[in-house]
Amino acid sequence: LGDEAISRLSDSQIRDLVRLYQEQWWTKGRTEDDVRRMLDHTDFIFGFCEANSGQLIAFARVLSDRIYKALILDVIVDRDHRERRLGTALMQRILDHPELRSVKHFELYCLPEREAFYEKLGFTANLKVRLMRKTDANNPAISPPISGG
Ligand SMILES: CC(C)(COP(=O)(O)OP(=O)(O)OC[C@H]1O[C@@H](n2cnc3c(N)ncnc32)[C@H](O)[C@@H]1OP(=O)(O)O)[C@@H](O)C(=O)NCCC(=O)NCCS
Repeated sequence: LGDEAISRLSDSQIRDLVRLYQEQWWTKGRTEDDVRRMLDHTDFIFGFCEANSGQLIAFARVLSDRIYKALILDVIVDRDHRERRLGTALMQRILDHPELRSVKHFELYCLPEREAFYEKLGFTANLKVRLMRKTDANNPAISPPISGG
């Protein structure tokens, strides 16, 4: 691909991530301070950056107990780099990661229009379970108009 796979972010890549977040409905309004805190407590970071500039162009993160569950969050490919299979490569790195390979369930949130992308990677939305949520009304993180993410 000519892009470089990374598993941690430099200071400038953290700023790139904050910028990528402003363009997605479920991450809009995330601040650099909160994002740094989130990164400090995230189990696995996956990214691709441009080899020459170091600019972050694809990102995803995973929370996992390494045996039963792995929750994949914030899968984002920079607008200018979509449809180049970076999203697929990112997902494949997650699914093949040595510490995640034998996890029973990989799970993620997505809107119906993204199902096709994840189905190609073996995910199904055909489940009996429903997602439930309790929201902290006092959490200072700005909520997007549609509650999600
Ligand atoms: C979804 C996303 C990560 C895909 O990344 P990408 O690098 O463009 O995807 P790829 O190039 O790897 O595409 C892989 C396949 O999925 C298809 N695909 C990608 N996005 C799609 C979409 N929105 N709808 C339907 N199919 C899609 C591609 O056409 C390709 O199909 P192919 O295997 O037949 O060639 C990217 O579009 C993105 O960042 N979107 C905005 C953020 C987002 O919605 N993230 C997902 C949150 S659940």
